[in-house]
Amino acid sequence: MSIVILTGAGISAESGLGTFRDKDGIWTKVDLRDVATPEGFARDPAYVLEFYAARRAHGAEAKPNAAHFALARLESALLDQVLIITQNIDVLHETAGAKNVLHMHGVTNRDLCNNCGNRQETEQALTVESICPQCKSKGTLRPDVVWFGEMPYHMETIEKALEGCTTFVSIGTSGEVYPAAGFVASARMAGAHTIELNLEPSSGGNLFVESHYGPATEVVPKWVDEMLGQ
Ligand code: APR
Repeated sequence: MSIVILTGAGISAESGLGTFRDKDGIWTKVDLRDVATPEGFARDPAYVLEFYAARRAHGAEAKPNAAHFALARLESALLDQVLIITQNIDVLHETAGAKNVLHMHGVTNRDLCNNCGNRQETEQALTVESICPQCKSKGTLRPDVVWFGEMPYHMETIEKALEGCTTFVSIGTSGEVYPAAGFVASARMAGAHTIELNLEPSSGGNLFVESHYGPATEVVPKWVDEMLGQ
């Protein structure tokens, strides 16, 4: 058995971290072109770094919820048969104990140097004055997150995992952003059983053979209990 789980902002919503496209989502307050594109960063780096400094601080304070803990429990029971691919830049899956997690959109608690390529985990707020700990250059650091128009991380590993999976589960994502939104089609091509666990049907909701709707803290633990025969 090989279970590939894709998570989105909805799994962290009940931990107090915002989603993007819900009625009061992040993209209803900030124009994503200003903060989540290389062009936006080039235009006003200070504004972009301020936006991610706030998300870094919120991420550091947030606590995993029952859905994160349930997936960690599933992984510890089924070991390397479970892979979590998250679109989220928070690290709540890891804080809940999950080990096999791929952050396809990067993580908020790491800086990347545009000059030397160094990646550095940190909780410090990143500003235009920040100095790269590796090459000591100033003003070359950015948050190690993937912006629109950039290549998501781990795509080769993800594609291989989808080709070989027997169950694909999508949790807390609107299915609006590719390539993640296309994962369910790849899983179906591989003959996998497909499950959507979400507050409401996503854009690709009709592509899933099985679906359970409701808050992640309810539907995810229930599904994990069923998977573990509890
Ligand atoms: N429980 C389960 N699902 C929830 C909950 C909840 N408590 N609250 C919201 N949701 C669902 C919403 O119904 C929606 O389908 O989570 C989904 C959130 O969708 P988006 O806000 O679009 O977030 P996401 O799908 O993760 O966005 C994908 O877009 O902007 C980029 O990089 C960003 O990774 C992000 C990507």
